[in-house]
Amino acid sequence: MTVDTELSRIGISLPKNLLDKFDEIITYRGYSSRSEGIRDAIRSYITYYKWMSDVTGERQGVITMIYDHGQRGLLTTLTDIQHEYMGIIQASLHSHVTHDRCLEIILVRGDGADLKALAERLMSQKGVETVKLTTIPISD
Ligand code: NI
Repeated sequence: MTVDTELSRIGISLPKNLLDKFDEIITYRGYSSRSEGIRDAIRSYITYYKWMSDVTGERQGVITMIYDHGQRGLLTTLTDIQHEYMGIIQASLHSHVTHDRCLEIILVRGDGADLKALAERLMSQKGVETVKLTTIPISD
């Protein structure tokens, strides 16, 4: 476990449904408190970000994205972004998960920095629930 030298207290605002889902998971996973769950979630976020930062050089990979297709304008925006990055996109697969949610898998190949930039552009759109970038280096 990480030894934190000093604790800072913060106040955050969250949509109720997001907090409900979070509470459900921390209860299921047996966390002693919401604070402990949030600390762990922040650590995971930092680890994931660092891991994303290691994506360099020529890479082959997939972007897995879940989003709410009911979000106004989102479909057009996601399509526009993908056209902007068409040089690194090889193929995409769309699956309708439920009435409101879509799962999209995008096959990408190119410079790691471009792959990350695409993933982060997609991630920052309102209505996009999750974006995961998984890559491997291209070498013989
Ligand atoms: Ni769909």
